[in-house]
Amino acid sequence: MPNVSHLECGRCGKHFAAGKVYNLCDCGSPLLVRYHLERLRDGFSLRDLAGRAANLWRYREVLPVGEEANVVCLGEGFTPLLHAKRLGEKLGLPKLYLKDESFNPTGSFKARGMAVAVSMAKELGLKKLAAPSAGNAGGALAAYSAAAGMNAAVFMPETTPLANRLECSLLGALVELVPGSIKDCGRVMRERLNPGHGPDDWFDVSTLKEPYRIEGKKTMAYEIIEQLNGIVPDAVIYPTGGGTGLIGMWKAFDEMQELGWIGVRRPRMFSVQSTGCAPIVRAFAAHAERADEWEDPQTIASGLRVPAAIGDFLILRALSKSRGAAVAVTDQSMLNAVRDLAQTEGVLTAPEGGATLAALERLLADGLLSGYETVVLFLTGSAYKYVEAFEMAVEQSRR
Ligand SMILES: Cc1ncc(COP(=O)(O)O)c(C=O)c1O
Ligand SMILES: [Zn+2]
Repeated sequence: MPNVSHLECGRCGKHFAAGKVYNLCDCGSPLLVRYHLERLRDGFSLRDLAGRAANLWRYREVLPVGEEANVVCLGEGFTPLLHAKRLGEKLGLPKLYLKDESFNPTGSFKARGMAVAVSMAKELGLKKLAAPSAGNAGGALAAYSAAAGMNAAVFMPETTPLANRLECSLLGALVELVPGSIKDCGRVMRERLNPGHGPDDWFDVSTLKEPYRIEGKKTMAYEIIEQLNGIVPDAVIYPTGGGTGLIGMWKAFDEMQELGWIGVRRPRMFSVQSTGCAPIVRAFAAHAERADEWEDPQTIASGLRVPAAIGDFLILRALSKSRGAAVAVTDQSMLNAVRDLAQTEGVLTAPEGGATLAALERLLADGLLSGYETVVLFLTGSAYKYVEAFEMAVEQSRR
């Protein structure tokens, strides 16, 4: 049996029994999985991880899947944490690290969330999974559904890079292109598929609308603690769309404290968005609890083209509790940062990853970081899905 004790609403705190199919709480907020961490405290330490497989299931004690046979694994997780020595020297930040998530199946960190969500869907007897996606989540959903022998449907904006669209089709998903943003995709998906909880229904696995993608994403925090040998970094910079990764990591730090792996100190959490779509940055600056929808979202970082996030209050809470911040950077500065990263470290990343370096430069210039800190940049996805955007940038730089 897994160590799950129950699920709990992130907003009103209502409890839900484990082992059933859920989307949101009655109050419309995301559900979070809670574990019997007190029981694990003496039997699950960082040392116990040595020798386990190099994927996210090495943290199986704090993952929700009960039966080993339901685990759908394509090798996700345990991505490299690279010490960026040359870039760190250039920036005056000797303890700079890059978490390179492009090593995941389908080339992005979205694989982590979908691996756990699809495994749980299998355990709960679901067979048809659907989600709106900015691109990378759709590819991951398609891959894990195929591996599980399930059906997948992905609703993507018309502007989604070709590679994302092709990968979903090749992996056997139904692909529907929708005018507008990911929010419009969600609306069209609900109209078309009328998602439900029965074995013949399409089940909605939208960001934070089911409880398990966040469990997969939280493993990014377990990994940085393991890879830094128990040291808690001073700052984490994360490109934020729907915010599952940030919310998941914030949850994981609390879990690791309860497990006795870390103390009370937390990294300062920094969200990065594009100036063309920055609802969290705007809300953070206004000290708001929720983020208003961003009108006409535009950015080449398709994963950041999320005008409204259902977990906005959880993102904002983590940023302020951690004494972090939210930073908007231009698309041009993301592209420049991609090139800098590539040419100083040999690491080619998606524009969303470039955004974290552009934000880091701003935080250093504004004195929010001084140079003594241990900083982790999340390079969330592979550059190779964004060839149109890079080609355009190269052409513009020639003019
Ligand atoms: C490469 C990449 N980075 C970042 C994000 C944003 O992630 P999240 O929704 O967890 O905030 C996405 C989402 O699609 C993405 O594809
Ligand atoms: Zn609730």
